[in-house]
Amino acid sequence: MATRKLRPRTAGPAALSLAVPEAEAPDETALPDANFEIELELLLEAIFRKYQHDFRHYSRASLRRRLQQALRDLHLGTLSQLQDRMLRDAGLFGRLLQYLTVQVSEMFRDPAYFRAIREHVVPVLQTYPSVNVWVAGCSSGEELWSLAILFEEEGLAERTVFYATDINPEALAIARAGVYDAGRLRAFGENYLAAGGRRSLSDYYHAAYGKAKFRAQLIRQSVFADHSLATDSVFQEAHLISCRNVLIYFDRPLQDRAIGLFGDALARRGFLGLGSKESLHFSAHVGAFEPVAAQERLYRKL
Ligand SMILES: C[S@@+](CC[C@H](N)C(=O)[O-])C[C@H]1O[C@@H](n2cnc3c(N)ncnc32)[C@H](O)[C@@H]1O
Repeated sequence: MATRKLRPRTAGPAALSLAVPEAEAPDETALPDANFEIELELLLEAIFRKYQHDFRHYSRASLRRRLQQALRDLHLGTLSQLQDRMLRDAGLFGRLLQYLTVQVSEMFRDPAYFRAIREHVVPVLQTYPSVNVWVAGCSSGEELWSLAILFEEEGLAERTVFYATDINPEALAIARAGVYDAGRLRAFGENYLAAGGRRSLSDYYHAAYGKAKFRAQLIRQSVFADHSLATDSVFQEAHLISCRNVLIYFDRPLQDRAIGLFGDALARRGFLGLGSKESLHFSAHVGAFEPVAAQERLYRKL
């Protein structure tokens, strides 16, 4: 398996683990003071200029809350102080990236989504000689490994190349390793069965010392890459793009950019899957897709 950078971007080595607490549903937390908004704009601009990561079109409610948490943890009083240090310390930016990106994930999350893929997508892909799947915003890989297991059970694994992309290098490293805490497996296993799994999830991993490592053979061909939906372009034609629980963190123009990218990347009649709180409904690109299973946020390029 290869890890690629599709575009040079600077992120220093991150010292924090991925476990920055975050509830996924954005809420409107009270602002700490009137300067926070100005400093927030300046910080995002500084991050973009210095490290080429573009958070300027992310949902402000979530960013505010997460940056307030970063200030508390780093014992800093203002975003200006954070900006000053971050500009001179790439390692600190690596830590900040763990706050700016939300890493909540689980295997076979929203089992009905994976059932819909089995029902509507698999029979089409089974007629293709080769298949490209792009998991965009793959985080630590739970969605990727879920699809890999599903494809194995449906006889598609041999012919499939998985492209797994994210802007968080730590998350990508975990995705590539396919190693998760054993304590999470019970919930994963229940989701797997609810998603129409044909065996037992334990058939697909080896557990030892409190960790479970998923069988590398599940993913025959893969590319793991640093790719941003905010700044990068199409890199490969795909027959299925699964991008779940990423667009919720973007504002409308950035959502449109990402969905436009998916439209460009998809092969004719390719499939697009989104998260349960995401939809094409208000997108500028809604006319380019038809719903396949609207409830499960599964669409097909027209
Ligand atoms: C909540 S996780 C979703 C994980 C997985 N897709 C799921 O639904 O379980 C959101 C992921 O989006 C990634 N992300 C945020 N901004 C991104 C961008 N501009 N381009 C690509 N990925 C991004 C984050 O690093 C994080 O890994």
